Amino acid sequence: MTKLSVNINKIATIRNARGGNIPDLIKAARLCEDFGAEGITLHPRPDERHVRYQDVRDIKKVIKTELNIEGYPSERFLSLIEEVKPEQVTLVPDGPDALTSNSGWNTIEHRNYLSDIVDRINKVCRVSIFVDPIPEMIIGAKECGAQRVELYTESYAKNYPIHKKRAIYPFIIAAQTAQECLLGLNAGHDLSLENLEYFQKKIPNLLEVSIGHALISDSLYYGLENTIQLYKRLLN
Ligand code: PXP
Repeated sequence: MTKLSVNINKIATIRNARGGNIPDLIKAARLCEDFGAEGITLHPRPDERHVRYQDVRDIKKVIKTELNIEGYPSERFLSLIEEVKPEQVTLVPDGPDALTSNSGWNTIEHRNYLSDIVDRINKVCRVSIFVDPIPEMIIGAKECGAQRVELYTESYAKNYPIHKKRAIYPFIIAAQTAQECLLGLNAGHDLSLENLEYFQKKIPNLLEVSIGHALISDSLYYGLENTIQLYKRLLN
């Protein structure tokens, strides 16, 4: 079974547009769980333009499923992890100005750096490393000590409407590599109602998807409860 972790950064973006507390992020996180989400993902960026550091603290206190915190491992980020103790951290190599995550880690070039970070976070929780679907990067993630990798699915989503078999191919190889390395497998970025089912069918060892942009956008049309159910139906 593949778990659905809902990334609620976009809800924080709407809240921040007016400076008040509408929509209420804590209420949204709880509702996602009530409607069937098996996890909540938060990505506090250094400028806190979406989810704020305080949101992470507040949400950890109220949710019952897994909290996955994504981000670049700055000292401030690492201190937050040690304080909040989520179930999972996903390390992302995005700089402070990145609009959204735009590449996976080079786990070979940054091996020593990542190994130290993974060691530190492992005292608190499981670590997943965000990687492109390249076997060497997955083997590299294993060598850094991570328990999981999250495959960066932007290229799959972009190529899916053009040629879905070609789009999925590197991910099938990547998933096999992860399995051979005994690494757990997550995936995320640009997954949607259109492309999720095929991805999950072709990648049977997928443990978790984290989905934000498309899911929160779909909830404007269909409502949050229906939308979460629609995504879950594709996964099961
Ligand atoms: N995984 C990572 C590492 C991300 O940075 C993001 C976007 O914040 C996602 C998954 C979710 O991507 P999307 O919002 O396109 O569903």
